[in-house]
Amino acid sequence: MPRTIIEPFRIKSVEPISWTTRLQREQLLRAAYYNLFLLPADDVLIDLLTDSGTGAMSTHQWAAMMEGDESYAGSRSFERFRSSVQDIFGYKHVIPTHQGRAAERILFRVMCKKGDVVPNNTHFDTTRANVEFVGAEAVDLVIAEGRQPSLKHPFKGNMDVAALDVLIQKVGRERVPLVMLTVTNNSGGGQPVSMENVKAVSAVCRKHGIPLYFDACRFAENSYFIKIREQGYEKKAPKEIAQEMFSYGDGCTMSAKKDGLANIGGFLCTNDDLLAQQEKNLLILTEGYPTYGGLAGRDLEAVAVGIQEALHEDYLEYRIASTAYLGNHIAEQGVPIVQPPGGHAIYIDARAFLPHIPPDYFPAVALANELYLEGGIRSVEIGTLMFGATAKMDLVRLAIPRRVYTQSHIDYVVEVILEVWKKREQIHGMKLTYEAPFLRHFTAKLEPVEVLTAARH
Ligand code: F0G
Repeated sequence: MPRTIIEPFRIKSVEPISWTTRLQREQLLRAAYYNLFLLPADDVLIDLLTDSGTGAMSTHQWAAMMEGDESYAGSRSFERFRSSVQDIFGYKHVIPTHQGRAAERILFRVMCKKGDVVPNNTHFDTTRANVEFVGAEAVDLVIAEGRQPSLKHPFKGNMDVAALDVLIQKVGRERVPLVMLTVTNNSGGGQPVSMENVKAVSAVCRKHGIPLYFDACRFAENSYFIKIREQGYEKKAPKEIAQEMFSYGDGCTMSAKKDGLANIGGFLCTNDDLLAQQEKNLLILTEGYPTYGGLAGRDLEAVAVGIQEALHEDYLEYRIASTAYLGNHIAEQGVPIVQPPGGHAIYIDARAFLPHIPPDYFPAVALANELYLEGGIRSVEIGTLMFGATAKMDLVRLAIPRRVYTQSHIDYVVEVILEVWKKREQIHGMKLTYEAPFLRHFTAKLEPVEVLTAARH
């Protein structure tokens, strides 16, 4: 009998979490205008809003932080950071940034102009916003299977290679300054990209002379999926797989708040000397000198250790198993989720969960609110509130912070979701009472509304 996959760590420092009563949560929700972003974090019991910057650091990371060299220029911590990044990613230039979106802003500012087109499997929202901010168009080319929540496929994050080739020929090579691949594909359900697909995308890019960049936030989780799902990689270490994957590209953007196992940090890499110079010039303008890029020396140390730890096989085995554990336990009872479970999160299909609530009554907001009300769990809507009427799906994302919650926390989450599943027919839709002109989901105000019968009209 295979043994239970356990957390490959023991707990040295604990942070209490707070219980609230249902009545308190009713009041707290009302005071937060039914928008979970507006809740004080202290009133959340299990916080699955994001896996970004919320991970627990190891003893090695905390020890390394004490070694942080806070010199303005030429810091020893930068040397350690660069050599750790180069060991895995292999790119010539390593530019530290305070988080992923700072790397994106600099990359697109330097490489793109108005009228350009940037293909990606699926752009994350900050990536899309940064592409559009410089007047370029962000195009999502994930394979058709990646757009169907209930369909199982081992690599639903793959890019449609033929569609990429057609797009480049249609708009012309000069208008495509770079191609991006997001590993794993966050907006598409945390689904991985196969090595075969990376190679095929890289070949199309080479054919047209276009550089390939990775949005590498969850590179370690993607590498592990390749190990367990792709033929020929079973015996390889996750690090070797990551090294091979990055060898097919020309650079990357990275948020170290995910698979960097750090609370803040990121970087931008490139093999291109001229671009690196321009990127560093822009970095100095707004982020900081190129040997710290807006981070403290101690942050660089935490990332240097974290990106290596994220590739440890026992950690990745536990990480992927614990996400799947949550997904499988709710799916077995009929809860509709994006299949198969992703690396960092489980996505509940709220349109299938609440078929009586039409998309314009925000079914995923309604469900996220109900999970909080029932058990103090905070999740996030990825759907009509976030993307407007063009949203193709209404999902509730339950993102799992790294090394933070134990199996009994996850068991509790499963119980709460199943309680809500039983009462699903009584859940009301929501309507907006305030919205900001852009990125409205962060500050929107809502209220519950009777739409139990709306679908029947
Ligand atoms: N790319 C992807 C795929 C991401 O998931 C994120 C952040 C970023 C880029 C931007 O990185 O936050 O360090 O600036 N995702 C977080 C999330 C916020 O909750 O999924 P950042």
